Amino acid sequence: MAAAIFSLFIFLVALLIGTSSASSSGLQILQAERQIELTSHIVRVYLTLKIENTEDAPATEVLLAFPPTQFDHLALVKAAVTVGKKRKKSYAPLEAKPTEQRDAPNGTKYYSVSLLKPLAKGETTTLEILYILTQSLEPFPKEIAQSDPQLVYYRDSAIVLSPYHIAHQATVVKTPSNNVESFTQVDPAQRSGSELRYGPYEGHGPYSYSPIIVHFENNHPFAVVEELEREIEISHWGSVQVTERYKLAHTGAKHKGAFSRVEYQSRPGGSGVSSFKHLLAVLPPRVHSVYYRDEIGNISTSRLRTNSKKSELLIEPRYPLFGGWKATFLIGYGVPLKDFLFESAPGARYLNYTFGCPIADTVVDKLTIKVVLPEGSKDPSVEVPFTVKQSLEKKYSYLDVIGRTVVVLEKRNVVPEHHVPFQVHYKFNPLFMLAEPLMLASTFFLLFAASVAYLHIDLSIRKK
Ligand SMILES: *[C@@H]1O[C@H](CO)[C@@H](O)[C@H](O)[C@H]1NC(C)=O
Ligand SMILES: *[C@@H]1O[C@H](CO)[C@@H](O)[C@H](O)[C@H]1NC(C)=O
Ligand SMILES: *[C@@H]1O[C@H](CO)[C@@H](O)[C@H](O)[C@H]1NC(C)=O
Repeated sequence: MAAAIFSLFIFLVALLIGTSSASSSGLQILQAERQIELTSHIVRVYLTLKIENTEDAPATEVLLAFPPTQFDHLALVKAAVTVGKKRKKSYAPLEAKPTEQRDAPNGTKYYSVSLLKPLAKGETTTLEILYILTQSLEPFPKEIAQSDPQLVYYRDSAIVLSPYHIAHQATVVKTPSNNVESFTQVDPAQRSGSELRYGPYEGHGPYSYSPIIVHFENNHPFAVVEELEREIEISHWGSVQVTERYKLAHTGAKHKGAFSRVEYQSRPGGSGVSSFKHLLAVLPPRVHSVYYRDEIGNISTSRLRTNSKKSELLIEPRYPLFGGWKATFLIGYGVPLKDFLFESAPGARYLNYTFGCPIADTVVDKLTIKVVLPEGSKDPSVEVPFTVKQSLEKKYSYLDVIGRTVVVLEKRNVVPEHHVPFQVHYKFNPLFMLAEPLMLASTFFLLFAASVAYLHIDLSIRKK
């Protein structure tokens, strides 16, 4: 009996040790430096970690820990390793992807960063991490009058959340101005101007956490595109036609009371400081036939400036946008085919276009990109440097015989850092280019034949 209980005990102990615990790793962080940028409505966090392996087994991955609420607002996590010393220092990108760990305390979520080469015992490496959070600034008060500045809360931990022991660490929080209402004191913590400094803190064990709240003024336009649909249509007859449908919202503090245009116009900079009057869309150079319209009709107040590198379209909604207000509009333009469509092999082509939202400094909750391939295209495949949801559709337009393949890409939580090139490859038989003219020609021929027949009948009737 005693032996049985003893072996059960041994079994349980083995079970406990056997579970890959999220904190039992032999890594430790010698130095952690974090910079949290709260200067716009998109939160960017730069983290430098100097890591040492203290165990015999070589380490191949490093875990980054996030509280569950923060994880849900992560738009992007990028990691790089510094190679070389001092002046010859450069960065090599590393793969970072979400991962699950058993017995994660308090619902902690993780990203795993794969190292270029295993880290042997006693060796150190330095990682540079950037992660971006959206919708992480909470307006407080929730409603403001036209003449009020916008104040927001940011919540985080004074101590970097990590499954590893951190020997030394410090955090700098950057606010847009000196107007900081309050911040949680975790000694040592101090403010100088628009910078809050937390730490240095020494010797914190795994999963140490010390909640902080920073309450500060942020009048940056909280421009969020709730939905954006971009349709990119390739016509082998010389142009790529782009149509973008926007549902835009100001997600800052809600506007309270009536909107006074007189006050708005007479006190620029003093009234409606967190509202926005216009947005800037950065489009490719050599755009043509640009239009911009909303539910009411064409808006001609938009301005277009082009140079050899880019075109800038100033989008000016009919009214300035205050917190809680929305605007729906559409922009369309054409770009030369030769700038974006390339031949990779005989009969194989690819579109190289930009992902993301062309409007500067915005977050897109839900982005859908539809690439409409020419009729007769086959075997489409997509290359994009992050995960997106992919599907295929068919579209029929004027003169189409068998319809066009549409490659549909969907992504949530898109930030300016996602504004990078992506490619859609497809196979194409040039004979299909003749399909449309042939259709046209045969239609004309049929019409011609019909009219000849009709005239002939007509004539023959008259002869009688
Ligand atoms: C989990 O959360 C509780 C309450 O917030 C806290 O007291 C505790 O220390 C946390 N545990 C860990 C391991 O972080
Ligand atoms: C709006 O502009 C487009 C392109 O310039 C034009 O084709 C269209 O007819 C215009 N619509 C209205 C309602 O003015
Ligand atoms: C796509 O275009 C970008 C510039 O717009 C260029 O840097 C990149 O090399 C192109 N990619 C391919 C695969 O052609």
